[in-house]
Amino acid sequence: MPAFSDPSQQNPTGQTPLRIGVMASGNGSNFEALVQAIDAGTLAAEIRILVVNNPGCGAQLRAERLGVPCTVLDHRVLKERDQLDQALVNCFRSAAVEVVVMAGWMRIVTPVLINGYADRLVNIHPSLLPSFKGLDGIGQALAAGVKITGCSVHLVTAELDGGPILAQAAVPVDEGDDHATLSEKVHREEHRLLPEAINARIPIWRQG
Ligand code: GAR
Repeated sequence: MPAFSDPSQQNPTGQTPLRIGVMASGNGSNFEALVQAIDAGTLAAEIRILVVNNPGCGAQLRAERLGVPCTVLDHRVLKERDQLDQALVNCFRSAAVEVVVMAGWMRIVTPVLINGYADRLVNIHPSLLPSFKGLDGIGQALAAGVKITGCSVHLVTAELDGGPILAQAAVPVDEGDDHATLSEKVHREEHRLLPEAINARIPIWRQG
């Protein structure tokens, strides 16, 4: 591990690492891509905490393997959306998190979180927004028969998948692509785009 993966150290760019919190619901490959970008020195950040809502999900297992602190906030226990989001805010504030990244978070978020981290809440979505908002962006693209889809990184506002777009990448839909093959291609782009978009935004977050 490079020395700068120690959060107490500065990274090679000389910047103080941005303290980020990550939210994930499933496999967690985007979460791991963030860890890898930090270790590669291309994302000037440190992950203070991962929060998952599904106990035992892939993201949690990855955090254990990677040595990232992980908290489970189960939506079956914290049943009200506001209650879950307040617990998320509390958790991130306790960890001194500056920016929160929704890396495959499959719950709708409320103003409790959106306003708690206003302009500092980032989401990755598997489509070229504003197309194919909501659930299963990949399946929606296949059903629509588009020849190009992709992924978007955006700030989260009260409008579902409707906040300002920070970055996008296009992915061709090839003849014979199915959900699995298209999902793999979109994920490959997401893993590059998400850390890149966060890193590019750091100067603006630092100002405000
Ligand atoms: C990613 O494709 C992400 O864009 C999507 O979930 C996947 C998570 O993959 N997010 C949404 O659909 C949010 N509406 P991962 O768990 O392997 O990172």
